[in-house]
Amino acid sequence: MKEYIVNYYLSEYHGAMFGFFAGIVFLIAAFLLWKFGVSGSLARGIAYSLIGGGLFFSVACTGVMIHNKQTAQKVEQSIIANNADVQTSEVARMEKVMASSYTGALIMFSLFIIVGLVFVLAFQGNLLMKGVGLGLLIIGAYGHVTEAFSMKRNRGYLEEIKSLKFENENINNMKMENKELFGTATVGSIEVRNRIIRAATGDRAHGNVTEEVIENYRKLAAGGVGAIVTGFVTVEERESFIPTLSFYDDKYIEQHKPLTDAVHAGGGRIVLQIASVGSFVTGGDYEGVPVYAPSAVEHMYSKIVPKEMTIGEIKQVQKKFADAALRGKKAGYDGVEIHGAHNFLLSLFTSPHYNRRTDAYGGNAGNRARMLLETVKIVKDAVGNDYPIWVKINSEEHFDNGITLEDFLYQCRELEKLEVAAIEVSGNWSSVASRTGPLYLDAATKAAESVATDVIATGGFREAAQMQEILMTTGIDAFGIARPFMKNPNLNEVLKLTN
Ligand SMILES: Cc1cc2nc3c(=O)[nH]c(=O)nc-3n(C[C@H](O)[C@H](O)[C@H](O)COP(=O)(O)O)c2cc1C
Repeated sequence: MKEYIVNYYLSEYHGAMFGFFAGIVFLIAAFLLWKFGVSGSLARGIAYSLIGGGLFFSVACTGVMIHNKQTAQKVEQSIIANNADVQTSEVARMEKVMASSYTGALIMFSLFIIVGLVFVLAFQGNLLMKGVGLGLLIIGAYGHVTEAFSMKRNRGYLEEIKSLKFENENINNMKMENKELFGTATVGSIEVRNRIIRAATGDRAHGNVTEEVIENYRKLAAGGVGAIVTGFVTVEERESFIPTLSFYDDKYIEQHKPLTDAVHAGGGRIVLQIASVGSFVTGGDYEGVPVYAPSAVEHMYSKIVPKEMTIGEIKQVQKKFADAALRGKKAGYDGVEIHGAHNFLLSLFTSPHYNRRTDAYGGNAGNRARMLLETVKIVKDAVGNDYPIWVKINSEEHFDNGITLEDFLYQCRELEKLEVAAIEVSGNWSSVASRTGPLYLDAATKAAESVATDVIATGGFREAAQMQEILMTTGIDAFGIARPFMKNPNLNEVLKLTN
C-alpha cells in the first residue's frame, strides 16, 4: 500500500516534469519564431502566447514537482503509512486533491481555447492578435491532451490503491488497535499474558513424557512467556523411532496431563504441535520403517528418497492427526498446532519441488495445499469448532521450484476460510538460521494484510522494541521465539529486559 501511494506521487512528479519541459519547449519555439518569423505579425503573436504559456508551465510545474517529490519522500519515510486509518484518510485526500486540481486545469485550458478562438475569430484583420489567439489555442489543446493522459494514469493508480485498501481495510482496522507486546491479549483464540510465544523446539524424549521434559516446560512457564508450543509430537506409531514425544496412542493422554498442569500453574498457556515428518528423518533408527512422502523425491536434508504415498495412506495419516489433536485436547492443552512447515510431511505436499503428483494432491497451488487443508478440516471435526487450531507454514522457499509467496498467501487465505485460530509464519529456517534479525517478516506482514486470522511471525525475533513497533505498524499479532529459550527459559532475560 505504501509503495502505491509513493508511486502515485512520483507519477504526479514525473507528469509535472513533463509539463516543465513542455514549458521550456514553448519558450524555445517562441524564441525561434521570434528569431526567424518576427517580421510577420502572426508569428509574433504566436510567440507572445508561447512565451506566456512557456513561463507559466515551467514555473507552475516546478512548484508541482517540488510538492510531489516532497510528499513522496514523506510517505516513504513514515512508518505510519501502514496504518489503515491513515491510508483511508490519505486516499480520500488524494482523491479530493486530484479531482480539484484536474477540474481547475481543465477549466483553465478550456479558457485558453475559448479565448484563443475568440481572438482568432474576432481579430480577422489583426494578424498579431490572431497570432496570440492561435498561440492560446495551441497551449489549450496541449494542456487538454496531457491532462487527459495524466488523469487517466493517476486515476488508475488511485483505483489500484483503493482496491488494495478496501480488501485490507476491515482486517487492518481490526488488527491495528493498540497491540501491546506485554499485557494480556488473545492470540489465536487463547488468552495469553503477552504476545511472545515460545516457538516449537523438539523435546529430547523417546515417546514418553519424562520428569525432565515436564521440568523444562515448568521453567518456561515460570519464565513468563505468553504461550508455549511444544516440540513436535509424532502422530503415527511408525514414526515413534524419532527421538521426540509421541502422541499416537491414548496412553499418552494421562502422561501429558502433569505437563499441561505445570504450565498452567505457572500462568502460561500450552499448545501441542502435531506432526508427521514424512521423509525428513534425521534422527533415530528407521530401519525397516517405510518412509513416505508425496513423491519419490530425495529430501534435501535427510537425503532419503521416500516412497510415494497412496491415497489410502494420505487419508490414514490425516486421521492420525485428528486422533492426536483430540488426545491433546483431553490432556489439557490449550490448543493444537498442525506442523505444516520445515519440509515435514505436510509442507512436502505444498512444495512443488517435493510434490510431483499428478492426482488431486499435486499440481497447482490448490491441489498441493489439499493435504494440509483436509488435515485441518479433519482435525477441526475431531476437536470441535471452539478449540483453537494453529497452523505453522513455510512462507517462500528460496530454492528452485520451492513454495512461492503466492502459494503461501493462497494457503493463508484458505486457512482463514477454515477458521483456524492462528497462522504461524516460518520458512526454510535451517537454511537461514545464521542470519540475524527477522527472517520472514515481509511474508508475515503480507499474510497479516491478506487475512483476518491471527498471524504469529517466527524466526529471528530478539528485541522487544522492534517487536512492539511491528505490532503497531503491521497486522502481525504475536512473535514466536525458539532458540534463545533453549539457553534460558526466562523471558525478560531472553529479551535482555531489566524487569
Ligand atoms: C533445536 C530446534 C528444534 C526445533 N524443533 C522444532 C519443532 O519441533 N517444530 C517446529 O515447528 N519448529 C522447530 N524448530 C524451529 C523453531 O520453532 C523456529 O521456527 C526456528 O528456530 C526459528 O526461530 P528462532 O530464530 O527464534 O530460533 C526447532 C528449532 C531448533 C533450533
